Amino acid sequence: MSFSLLRAPLRRAAATGARSIPRAQFRSSYRHYSTPPPEAKSNNNLLIGLGAVAGIGGLSFYYYSSTRDAELKSGLQAAKVKANFVPTKEDYQKVYNKIAELLDEAGEYDDGSYGPLILRLAWHSSGTYDKETKTGGSNYATMRFQPESLHGANNGLNLARDLMEKVKSEFPWISYGDLWTLGGVAAIQEMQGPKVPWRAGRIDGVATDATPDGRLPDATQGADHLRNIFGRMGFNDQEIVALSGAHALGRCHTDRSGFVGPWTFSPTTLTNEYYKLLFNETTDYVLVQDKSFKKYAKAYAQDSELFFRDFASVVSRLFELGVPTQQWVTPEPWIMKSLEEQHEEKK
Ligand code: HEM
Repeated sequence: MSFSLLRAPLRRAAATGARSIPRAQFRSSYRHYSTPPPEAKSNNNLLIGLGAVAGIGGLSFYYYSSTRDAELKSGLQAAKVKANFVPTKEDYQKVYNKIAELLDEAGEYDDGSYGPLILRLAWHSSGTYDKETKTGGSNYATMRFQPESLHGANNGLNLARDLMEKVKSEFPWISYGDLWTLGGVAAIQEMQGPKVPWRAGRIDGVATDATPDGRLPDATQGADHLRNIFGRMGFNDQEIVALSGAHALGRCHTDRSGFVGPWTFSPTTLTNEYYKLLFNETTDYVLVQDKSFKKYAKAYAQDSELFFRDFASVVSRLFELGVPTQQWVTPEPWIMKSLEEQHEEKK
């Protein structure tokens, strides 16, 4: 089995003390370009089962009612917002702070932070954008609805969405798109990454705003696939390579992508280690195979400041995909403060 983008993640390297990078295990039934929905779990499973027994009508009723539930819930939350409430940058900073605190409540989960998972939610909600049709992107937060929530690429992100609900219930005035992308910003900044300029203004959409499956990248395909997928969003080679540096963070999960393990030895701290490891190990990964990608990967491996600068600017753009300019509440993006910075200021 050959891997393209995914370099072999480190399987619990810290725990075993191993420095070698074992090949990730891969289940070929998972994560192809356009993926079937995963098996539904718990009560969803039951309801889908009931729908199936009742025939197509029953199933579509289930689909309709669960989608309407999500739409109604977001309407009810919006109704709780006091009339004439116009949030300021300080209000968004409070949301940031709440998210930042939540990231640390991960306990035994993975490597002790929800940061990578929350970043992945922000990216998958933005990366559906198509510059030709101007559909998808972070504006409407359509991953709240089926079938997008069940797209194979989004496996595991239900956990991230549930976590963000805790924040939403405290700050019902914020749109889901703003909440999720602010989550991505908080995750990067709190995991020692660069400041990511961010603007508020996304609005909540409805299920019919969702885009079809297959818009996110597939880790088993090569350079052409990456250029097609990211080119559709409006990104060039350098930007593809810079964005991929996010894989310094987090890990793969067998039950989500079929791969297993982290890419680096510090999966909760953003560094340029991902690129360095690409060159230190013998690999067949697309970022070092493709001449153009390799040039940028080398530059980022050698210069972590360059990586931080390019990463911050491309992620900021990623999170704004699909949002019409007239929706922004301020013309200039904001720089949100990290918890550490606020702590220092109080001293
Ligand atoms: C270049 C194409 C990309 C491919 C093929 C890809 C693929 C994957 C896969 C297969 C996983 C493992 C999921 C799991 O099993 O839990 C993953 C995780 C992750 N990806 Fe990507 N990804 C790409 C780009 C990006 C971008 C652009 C970002 C953010 C800017 C990103 C951020 C992450 C993070 C933070 C994780 C770890 C999540 C966790 O620990 O739960 N990825 N990615």
